[in-house]
Amino acid sequence: MTEPAKILVIFGTRPEAIKLFPVVRALEADPRFTPVVCVSAQHRQMLDQVLEIAGIAPDHDLDLMRPDQTLDGLTAALLTELGRVMDQVQPARVIVQGDTATAMAGALAAYYRKLPVDHIEAGLRSGNIYHPWPEEVNRKIIGTIASLHFAPTEVSQAALLAENVDPARVHVTGNTVIDALHWVTARIAADPALAGGLAALEARFAGKRIIGVTSHRRENFGDGMDNIAAAIRQIAARPDVAVIFPVHLNPNVRGVMNAALGGLDNVALIEPLDYPHFARLLSLAEIMLTDSGGVQEEAPALGKPVLVMRETTERSEGVTAGTARLVGTDVTRIVTEIFNLLDDKAAYEAMARAHNPFGDGQSARRIVELIGDEVGQ
Ligand code: UD1
Ligand code: UDP
Repeated sequence: MTEPAKILVIFGTRPEAIKLFPVVRALEADPRFTPVVCVSAQHRQMLDQVLEIAGIAPDHDLDLMRPDQTLDGLTAALLTELGRVMDQVQPARVIVQGDTATAMAGALAAYYRKLPVDHIEAGLRSGNIYHPWPEEVNRKIIGTIASLHFAPTEVSQAALLAENVDPARVHVTGNTVIDALHWVTARIAADPALAGGLAALEARFAGKRIIGVTSHRRENFGDGMDNIAAAIRQIAARPDVAVIFPVHLNPNVRGVMNAALGGLDNVALIEPLDYPHFARLLSLAEIMLTDSGGVQEEAPALGKPVLVMRETTERSEGVTAGTARLVGTDVTRIVTEIFNLLDDKAAYEAMARAHNPFGDGQSARRIVELIGDEVGQ
């Protein structure tokens, strides 16, 4: 029997950790592979929340997060440090996920060493390099470098083929976020205390209609964030509504939200939730209002209408399925769309249907099989 192939799995932020722990687990369970986990820790606390619940102890932790880090400072440090780890580990292949600075720098450092890169969540495209910024360009760079492209859906497969990527290198696998969501749902079912930390809030807002909010996109900093806060103020003025908003640790988000929404009776600004508690929030919420990518994928799987505070989305599948709608960051538009869903039962029911356009929970297994075929083991 040949030696197991060493696969370097690189990630740095909360959503990458959520979407990659099922892959790390699947690699660990397969005797053909030895996964080596390297976290850049581009996020610190929000990454550690996922590592803890998923039980992943990284082999390399670069601890690169700096307060309010700039894209160029972060990217320079990532490139140097990830390259150093690659030289040390000498992996057979490198896995990156999505479109963060960590994923892009990881792919580039691997390319500089002529290491094959496998890209998970490949082929998402908005067609606008400033929405989302800088992720649209990050994922295009990774797409140029990647050896295997794991597209979550046929929409993303088509985007890659339209860019002349070799069809034999593109595989539709579903999105591993659905694997993660199934895993956490089963964990909570077995042990409800895992998501019991919201009990006090649930009691405080008993009888109210809950709107779950998240926001963090760089392109929304400034006017966008001010508008989002103003819209939430208007929504929370309704006595029948309560807003639960786990606030991203980015100071550009926290400063605005704390100043505009702190102390309002119907608004709970809370710390980022660990994954089981966020899954609990998804189940409590009547509507999700978000600019997050991952939440656009999870909410349809749970039949929760999701209003997306962006001008464009690379995740059109939710919009096509009818569970997601783009509302931008215009105050009146956000408030009108939320009130419409709260007051028009038919409009709500039309959106609140469970769809799984993003996967069936078996994506990690498929990805590991395909990598196995590639390494010929
Ligand atoms: C990053 C990704 C974005 C992804 C998002 C998920 C890039 C360019 N952006 O954006 O694609 O959607 O993560 O959340 O890669 N901070 C903390 N603690 C944490 C995390 C962040 O304090 O655990 C603060 C720090 O001040 C940090 C700042 O947030 O400097 C920004 O973090 P960064 O990773 O650069 O960008 P995000 O906006 O989180
Ligand atoms: N999430 C979480 N706790 C929170 C908010 C979000 O665990 O307080 C999870 C959410 O379920 C999803 C992911 O984090 O899987 C989305 O991360 P984020 O919105 O930061 O990034 P994006 O998906 O936009 O890249």
